[in-house]
Amino acid sequence: MGRRLTFEIFRYNPSESGTPPRIQAFDLEETPGMNIFVALTRIRERQDPSLKFDFVCRTALCGSCGMVINGRPRLACKTFTRDLPCRITLFPLPVFKLLGDLSVDTGAWFRRLSLRTGAWLHTSRAFEFRVPEERMDNATTFRIYEAERCIECGCCIAACAKVHIQPDFIGAAGINRLARFMLDPRDERGEARFFEVLGTENGIFGCLGLMGCEDNCPKDLPLQLQLAYVRRMMARAGLAGNGSRGDGPGRG
Ligand code: SF4
Ligand code: FES
Repeated sequence: MGRRLTFEIFRYNPSESGTPPRIQAFDLEETPGMNIFVALTRIRERQDPSLKFDFVCRTALCGSCGMVINGRPRLACKTFTRDLPCRITLFPLPVFKLLGDLSVDTGAWFRRLSLRTGAWLHTSRAFEFRVPEERMDNATTFRIYEAERCIECGCCIAACAKVHIQPDFIGAAGINRLARFMLDPRDERGEARFFEVLGTENGIFGCLGLMGCEDNCPKDLPLQLQLAYVRRMMARAGLAGNGSRGDGPGRG
């Protein structure tokens, strides 16, 4: 017989304007290997089919299942009930548009971020599929890969105190995304163009250094290292008058 768990879950449907938000409690018996995703699925199947929450991959890869679990932003599919007390509170991630109960629209936020930061490779070279791919040195590839591991779950944004008081702050996810292109030797944007976005109050100067992002990233991205890299590149560019691409996070 497993532990008796009590889930206290935020319930609210924004399209039903007459019904105020509330907390609803559900009891569930814990089973071996249970994670929050499994628990929510069981609650929906056996107790309340109207409960809204998101998931796709169930393996911490798609970034859909971010929610606030016992006060911390986490992935539901990666959080096991055995690591939590018997009373578990679940809230939707703040900052993002609430779709209902635990479901939020992180996609719209990250799409806006991509458009604001130009989060794609900027090159004047036409793609030629007959030409063999160019090799990139392993060290650069690794550093780009580190930044690319972001699954856009939004946990770092939800945990960022600055985003709560300054909604246009691009946060660690945005700075990490731009660092990825600064590192890429194929990107033809100069530092000046990167710094148009990064060198503002909504960019690197907006960071208060509270570390909520890195402490809550379920993929353990080295977000503070990326911030430090961008700061170093800006300082170097400022001192040199124009700047150079630099060596990337963890170096220089
Ligand atoms: Fe999620 Fe980490 Fe990416 Fe932030 S940096 S969106 S916490 S994976
Ligand atoms: Fe994909 Fe949790 S369901 S990250």
